Amino acid sequence: MNTSSAPGKIILFGEHAVVYGQPALAVPVMQVHVDVDVSDSARSGVWIDAPNVDLQAELNKLPSDHPIASVINNLFFLSHLSPFPNLEIKITSTIPVASGLGSGAAVTVALTRALTTHLNCPMTDEEVNAFTYEIEKLHHGTPSGIDNTVVTYARPVYFVKGQPIETFNVGQPFTIVIGDTGISAPTRESVGDVRKLWESDKKYWENVFEEVGEISFAARQVIEEGWLKMLGTLMDENHTHLQKMTVSSPELDHLVEAARHAGALGAKLSGGGRGGNMIALVEPEMAETVSRALQEAGAKNTIITQVA
Ligand code: PMV
Repeated sequence: MNTSSAPGKIILFGEHAVVYGQPALAVPVMQVHVDVDVSDSARSGVWIDAPNVDLQAELNKLPSDHPIASVINNLFFLSHLSPFPNLEIKITSTIPVASGLGSGAAVTVALTRALTTHLNCPMTDEEVNAFTYEIEKLHHGTPSGIDNTVVTYARPVYFVKGQPIETFNVGQPFTIVIGDTGISAPTRESVGDVRKLWESDKKYWENVFEEVGEISFAARQVIEEGWLKMLGTLMDENHTHLQKMTVSSPELDHLVEAARHAGALGAKLSGGGRGGNMIALVEPEMAETVSRALQEAGAKNTIITQVA
């Protein structure tokens, strides 16, 4: 049997603007992960068991554009496998789906690694990253590539579309509380809506994206120096820009406000927006208080994570 695991992720700064070439910062979230086991099967076919999404099926019974089927079929195609081997594939996940925590990328990364290792054609990280990006494009339209990068390398990433991967140092570890609105919101839609805004007035919106890029650039320096208070202010500013892009929602704004009110140093939505998750920067001793305040304000789930 071959197994592989991939973490979730959060975007700290720069979502949406990153699609237009601006820098963004993202970090892995190790508390949540996708785990994949691949083993030979005594029955004929490729049998997929993914209890979290209520899926139990043979590969050929899935529509070809099904996210899991498209990963397996593309890997078989790339490996020139014929006939297909008989396999049992088990996929379990603790990452909420469509909530900005990178669940899709994590499934692809873990499945790709487990399957290619099992088939004796393991891929390098670079190949896993490039393959996952191609799969993300099938399902998300025009992704920047930030999700697949941070999930593949499982390290903090300063990401600029089309540029070599840069990781960054964390001067002083900091604590983030993640709050889930429980509303699943497809990133494709919010990205499409921001594109419409951009098409309506490119000059204005490119200016907004540039301002976000400056925030990401400053945030990287602040993180490297360990100036946490300033980091909170930058988060607040980034959230204002995301509101302007219409990708926040009453629920996200409510959680962001609740976190600030409970003593967070700053807070913003994280990921595609409209639903999904928000993040709050907190002093470690305030993490539980902010987490509780988020739950009282309606968060369906909270995660406390350290960025180190
Ligand atoms: O919703 P998520 O966490 O997959 O994040 C999407 C981030 C965007 O910047 C909105 C889109 C992208 O492809 O970078």
